[in-house]
Parts: sequence; C-alpha cells; structure tokens
Amino acid sequence: MGIVTEETIQDENILSLEHQAVLDAILAENKDKPGATMVVLTLVQEKLGFVSHAMQSYLAQALEIPLSHLYGVLTFYSFFRMHPIGRHKINVCLGTACYVRNGPTLVEKYKQVLDVKVGETTPDQRFTLEICRCVGACSQAPVVMIDDDIYGRVNPQDIPKQLRKYE
Ligand code: FES
Repeated sequence: MGIVTEETIQDENILSLEHQAVLDAILAENKDKPGATMVVLTLVQEKLGFVSHAMQSYLAQALEIPLSHLYGVLTFYSFFRMHPIGRHKINVCLGTACYVRNGPTLVEKYKQVLDVKVGETTPDQRFTLEICRCVGACSQAPVVMIDDDIYGRVNPQDIPKQLRKYE
C-alpha cells in the first residue's frame, strides 16, 4: 500500500456522521427483515460504495450479530468492497491474449507507479488498481481499461504519461 497518512487512517477507522446517517436509515428500514445482514450490506455497498471497518463494527452491533459473521459475508462475496474506490478505476486485462502479451508486466508497472497492490486505492483516492478478464479487444493486447477508456498495445513505459490524463 502507498503512504498511509493520518487522514487515510481516519477514513478507514472512524465512522463519519454523514455515513452513520446513511447506515441508520438503511438499518431502520431493513433491520428486522429476513436475511437482514445481506440486505443491509448490499444497500450500504450500493449507497456508499464500500463497507469500512468502522461501518462493519457499527452494523454488527446494530444487527446484533458477531463482527466475524458480518466480515465472513463481506469476504465471501467479491462484489463487496471494504475500502473506498478511487475516482478512476484501472482494469488491467489478464485474459489469455493479454496475459501472453505482457499483461503481468503491466500489472507490475502500475503497482510500482501507483505504489499500491491490486485491489487497493491510492491514498489520494485517485486510482484503484484491478485486474479483469477479456474485454473483447484481444487483437489490441495487452489491453488496459481506465474508467470507460480502452487502451490497446499498452507499453509499460507509457504508463506514467497515460495516468497524467486522469488528474
Ligand atoms: S484477453 Fe485481453 S482483451 Fe481479450
């Protein structure tokens, strides 16, 4: 992970009043429904984009379930996120065509340039680095998607310049 600032730690571990209000509204509507844990977590993910550690503790207490149970649900389903997503999402394709044409080298270069691991977001919340499977542009391999932009035949050396477009 990149440099962890005090602000980052605060974001991850303290529940803001704004987020608490969203959780309270979701809990009030759904707390007593069957399967409330899944319903509540899905709505929090939809509305806020992630379920932080602070949110997990708050929700577990409100739903009267062990934190470990709630954490188990979050980690079982890959669509849940525990960290906020960046303003720009980088998806490096590692489908077969891209894999054999240097896809893994691109992943390493993005990790190095952004100073994050796959699945992480830069501390300034600018980029989230992810891996995807074939996006249907194999003839352009290796392919990278940034938001809705598709880049073909990406050269690792061009990555710093490419990222400057996404200030
Ligand atoms: S394998 Fe990457 S676009 Fe098809």
